[in-house]
Amino acid sequence: MQTDITELKKKAAAHAVGLIASGMVVGLGHGSTAIHAVHFLAERLKSGEIKNVLGIPCSLQVEEEALQCGMPLTTFEKHPLMDITIDGADEVDIELNLIKGGGGALLREKIVAQASRRVVIVLDESKCSPFLGKQRHVPVEIVSFGWNTHVFFLESLGAKVRIRRNADKSLYHSDQGNLIADCNFNEILNPRELAAIIKTHAGVVEHGLFLDLATDVVIAGAGGVRHLKRDRPAPAGKGDIE
Ligand code: A5P
Repeated sequence: MQTDITELKKKAAAHAVGLIASGMVVGLGHGSTAIHAVHFLAERLKSGEIKNVLGIPCSLQVEEEALQCGMPLTTFEKHPLMDITIDGADEVDIELNLIKGGGGALLREKIVAQASRRVVIVLDESKCSPFLGKQRHVPVEIVSFGWNTHVFFLESLGAKVRIRRNADKSLYHSDQGNLIADCNFNEILNPRELAAIIKTHAGVVEHGLFLDLATDVVIAGAGGVRHLKRDRPAPAGKGDIE
């Protein structure tokens, strides 16, 4: 079963990497599926099939992985606008909205996604749900100052909240040094309303509801690979800054 899921993740990742052309700046997502994409992309570059592709990683872990496989990287300072991002997700609904942040990188993932002309999400079909929240909790990144009060706030919205911890029970910190509150809202009937309310609280940095951000969702399943698309306004910006 595990192997099947891994194979499906690889199929979705390979399909998405086929969308990358020479000269593109690419957001490199976090999580096992996105890391398969980094490996496939590095292989295409090494073989000479495509050239001059630069990556911006969504996490320190992905940065390390990308460097190890020889993927050339760049920065937001040089490339504030990206052509395409390939990232995974924890759950997707029928409108192609997502829950992300299972790997704790939601803030950087959202910053990279919102700076990308095209956001391609790669996953296996087990992550598809009629409503977000059916399978996964919503990670919310919060500052550590007053964190109990942020938890009370999230509970007041109806969530069962768990602060994320490492295997040794110490508090988990994101790459930004913040905490993650995993919020079980059950099925979320109005994700836009919930997302807006969560952001009203000082101390909340970002949440893992990725609404209207994906332009493409590539779903690998037993019946093959499905590529779903949706229009989204292009991010503001001019691209390269001299
Ligand atoms: C990382 O923070 C998440 O948004 C990931 O994209 C997500 O957890 C997907 O992980 P897998 O590709 O390992 O299933």
